[in-house]
Amino acid sequence: TNKSKTTMVIFGGTGDLTHRKLIPALYQLHINGFLPEDFTAISIGRRDKTTEEYREDLLSSIKRFSSRNFEEESFESFSKMITYYRLNFEDQSDYEDLRRELESRDKEGVRDSYMFYLAVSPSYFSEIVLNLKASGIREKDSLWQRLVIEKPFGQDLESAIRLNDSISSVFDEKDIYRIDHYVAKEMIQNINMLRFQNAIFGSIWNKDHISNVQITVLEKEGVGTRGGYYDGTGALRDMVQNHLLQLLAITAMEPPVSLDTDDVRNEKVKVFSSLKPFTGEHLDEKLILGQYRGYQDEEKVDPDSGTETLVATKVYIENERWEGVPFYLLTGKGLKNKTAQITIEFKQSNRYNYGKVSEPNILEIKIQPDEGITLHLNIKEPGVVDKIAMVEMDYCQSCLYLFNSPDSYEKLLLDALNGDSTLFTRWDELQLTWKYVDSILEKVNESRKSMLKAYEVGSNGPEDLSSFIDSGANHWWYLNREY
Ligand code: BG6
Repeated sequence: TNKSKTTMVIFGGTGDLTHRKLIPALYQLHINGFLPEDFTAISIGRRDKTTEEYREDLLSSIKRFSSRNFEEESFESFSKMITYYRLNFEDQSDYEDLRRELESRDKEGVRDSYMFYLAVSPSYFSEIVLNLKASGIREKDSLWQRLVIEKPFGQDLESAIRLNDSISSVFDEKDIYRIDHYVAKEMIQNINMLRFQNAIFGSIWNKDHISNVQITVLEKEGVGTRGGYYDGTGALRDMVQNHLLQLLAITAMEPPVSLDTDDVRNEKVKVFSSLKPFTGEHLDEKLILGQYRGYQDEEKVDPDSGTETLVATKVYIENERWEGVPFYLLTGKGLKNKTAQITIEFKQSNRYNYGKVSEPNILEIKIQPDEGITLHLNIKEPGVVDKIAMVEMDYCQSCLYLFNSPDSYEKLLLDALNGDSTLFTRWDELQLTWKYVDSILEKVNESRKSMLKAYEVGSNGPEDLSSFIDSGANHWWYLNREY
């Protein structure tokens, strides 16, 4: 038979992620006609709730979090696809009931596909997956079954291995989709296009022409209500191990043989394997940790906490393309603005004397809030005297296309439904990034308290940041940008 239906099973159906991201993304996929035929979702939570009540909640989440085109009518058809199901994550017999529920939805002559989405606290990841097996749900005859799993995937390499051992006893690697939502942001997906479809960039993307790369992911918000999770985590684990290192790999990788999933992932793995090992020598030249003032008073945060809310680090990639080029990574909370961008700084070019040295060319890949690409060039200021000035060539995406990009979760859900795992993290990528971050943490843990620099909420981070970039290189480019 050619008939099929797809069921998404969302663990954590009443949680924040489901309401803010998953449901609005599914709704957009629905109105744009991207959901597979005969699609339904079962949203699982621990609370008692009727499906009617749950659908009411969905309506308010969509109105609140879905930025685009809400329509009463399409919400009707959308909400009919979703049912609420109560289950206690720790209760084995509840999973058997869930299996019976799924069986009761079987249709004669129709093949089933299942996407299990874990939007729950990581402490339940393993338990839920093992129960999918124990209850017989995994054995259900199906076209495919996939597991989508949120971060954090472990707290360090050791715990990541434990978690992976347990989920891979139930799912094959090819069916495990580990989310890194930064990779799916529009401008990150644009990097391949920019590098490989433009001769002018492809040929200068290396140490001969680039002096340094700055990857800055800055947030205005503090930890808010997530203190309980964050205080045991910190910015290195929360942001660097995943998002920032992924951005680094995508920026730095060699052209893949093709854009097929494993060709792309293989190139990222090579970057991670080439990271210069992080040693404890000259620690302050390659690592700054900050904590915003007032962090220790946040809800569920240790009043004496040594957790970093900001990290700046300098990374080198030991391969022919990047030998000697520093990649500066910076991320933090409680800063002046929410902005993320990758700044490529080119070497200075000063063949002639115009009375003033020219500025290096800068290529800015702007991830958020405004999506776009800006190239900075030296030109002659109009007039009878030769004078250098710097101008910007600007591609502003929303100005040209008049809309914001879809949220990354739309792309991620669609790809997972279609069986495309290119934007998801493969196990070996994860191992290598944990290994790298563990080696930083090891050094940090010896002198965490004395390393931590305080900074004011709403500022540009600790003072020491300004001298962190080597002389020769310009300075933190994000300081030039006011959003
Ligand atoms: C998450 C982190 O992965 O990314 C959060 O856990 C962080 O601490 C968030 O705030 C930032 O994502 P975005 O898409 O809002 O920039």
